[in-house]
Amino acid sequence: MPPGIAPHASSDMFKSPASFKKPRAKRWDHWITQESSSRTGSSIKDSAKYLKTPGLIPLGGGLPSCDYFPFERIDVKVPVAPHFSEQDTLETGIIRTAGKHDIRNGKSLYDLEVCLNYGQATGSAQLIRFVTEHTEIVHKPPYADWWSILTAGNVSALEMCLRMLCSRGDYLLTEEYAFATTLEAATPIGLRIVGIKMDKEGMLADDLDHVLTGWDELERGRPKPFVLYTVPTGQNPTGATQSYRRRQAIYAIAEKHDLCIVEDEPYYFLQMEDYAPGHIHSPVETERIPHDEYLSALIPSYLSLDTSGRVIRLDSFSKIIAPGTRVGWITGAEQLIDRFARHAEVSTSTPRDFDQ
Ligand SMILES: Cc1ncc(COP(=O)(O)O)c(C=O)c1O
Repeated sequence: MPPGIAPHASSDMFKSPASFKKPRAKRWDHWITQESSSRTGSSIKDSAKYLKTPGLIPLGGGLPSCDYFPFERIDVKVPVAPHFSEQDTLETGIIRTAGKHDIRNGKSLYDLEVCLNYGQATGSAQLIRFVTEHTEIVHKPPYADWWSILTAGNVSALEMCLRMLCSRGDYLLTEEYAFATTLEAATPIGLRIVGIKMDKEGMLADDLDHVLTGWDELERGRPKPFVLYTVPTGQNPTGATQSYRRRQAIYAIAEKHDLCIVEDEPYYFLQMEDYAPGHIHSPVETERIPHDEYLSALIPSYLSLDTSGRVIRLDSFSKIIAPGTRVGWITGAEQLIDRFARHAEVSTSTPRDFDQ
């Protein structure tokens, strides 16, 4: 764990050695908008990498002494799996404490001294490590140069991705019925929407291919779109979940037409069995499912299929912990995540401290 306040950190510090042996992503320079390619980010945040230089007196970022943070510790009472109900939490929950100086007292890898100060826009090293290890365990991205960094949740991350990839007047590919907030984020950026037909498994690969193959640039007044926004699991608003075969078919179309897939997956970890009429499912209350069993039951993600590095995946804690935890994470090819991070440095700045 890199020591100190606001240290520079990246997924490369926490990925397994085996992950670096995979082939590298393709180059996507042609996807990046002028706005995004001209971002230099924050020189103050960038200067953090020199802070350990012996003899250097830093006159850059204003990192206050934690003496002035008016919190000595925070206590949270949380459930112990598998006893998640409110009553169970009251009776059998445990209290977790984070103190101001847990790191220097050798009690923890993370504490209030670090998390309440200014941090890197990519998130604390501690949480980059968590989301990186989690991503490798769950998705095993098939290429080497991927990064995960923290975001302020999926809505914010999506809006930033649109600015990175789309210019005023461009078309954006989405499901025929799409998440209202995405449309409301895209419209002021000047994007026009192309809805792809759906069935009960969500977006139809054939219709996507049909729309792109028949794209008439003269008639549409714009080149063929290349950004595909999709909610593969528990799609909002239809609730449809794409099967593995459907995801494979759509990924093949993305390869054929050179698409960037933005998978917005706040509901990915809430997958349940098919609903059978008449049968009431008890949520896993009494039984603890082994991690491997749970993970192997999840429908593989686009990220796990992504041999080219063309998928940007958005994850969020908003549906798996609480909506007010305004922290999520984005995973994709390093070259794209780097552009995203430069934007974050001058917008979201530091992912929310207590939430981290
Ligand atoms: C498809 C989809 N994306 C994103 C969000 C919001 O995610 P977040 O709370 O992480 O911004 C929602 C719901 O609120 C959603 O349905």
